[in-house]
Amino acid sequence: MAKVLIVNGPNLNLLGTREPEVYGAVTLEDIEGLVGERARLRNADVSFFHSNHEGAIVDTLHEAVGTYDAVVFNPGALTHYSYALRDAVASIRIPVVEVHLSNIAAREEFRATSVIAPACTGQISGFGPDSYLLGLEAALAVLSRRP
Ligand code: DQA
Repeated sequence: MAKVLIVNGPNLNLLGTREPEVYGAVTLEDIEGLVGERARLRNADVSFFHSNHEGAIVDTLHEAVGTYDAVVFNPGALTHYSYALRDAVASIRIPVVEVHLSNIAAREEFRATSVIAPACTGQISGFGPDSYLLGLEAALAVLSRRP
């Protein structure tokens, strides 16, 4: 059974109340429920990690190796400037799918660049909570095509 870790960065714990006009009314707990449900249908095993702290996320990515087969990662605002997270993703030899609720290409200029995406297997952006489901599907597709 594929084991996938869903990692969420800064401020995503406030989903539901945070800028609902941008991110909608769904909470992080709701998203975890939806992803868990999809994982059961796909016969996959998912775990969840959230932190508002860059270093804690670096540690979690390092520790994912050996325990998880893939990571679905929403780095929040760290997406746009964290070279430490980019290097952490580049340092681990498991697929990482970057996901965003909002379409980062269609918002403020500073959000259009992800410094992390080039180190990831791919990026999914703009589908609200479905970005996580698509991210999980993408991770499972990558794993299923591995020799
Ligand atoms: C986000 C987009 C980021 O620009 C922002 O800082 C977030 C959320 C998203 O999921 O749309 O915190 O990653």
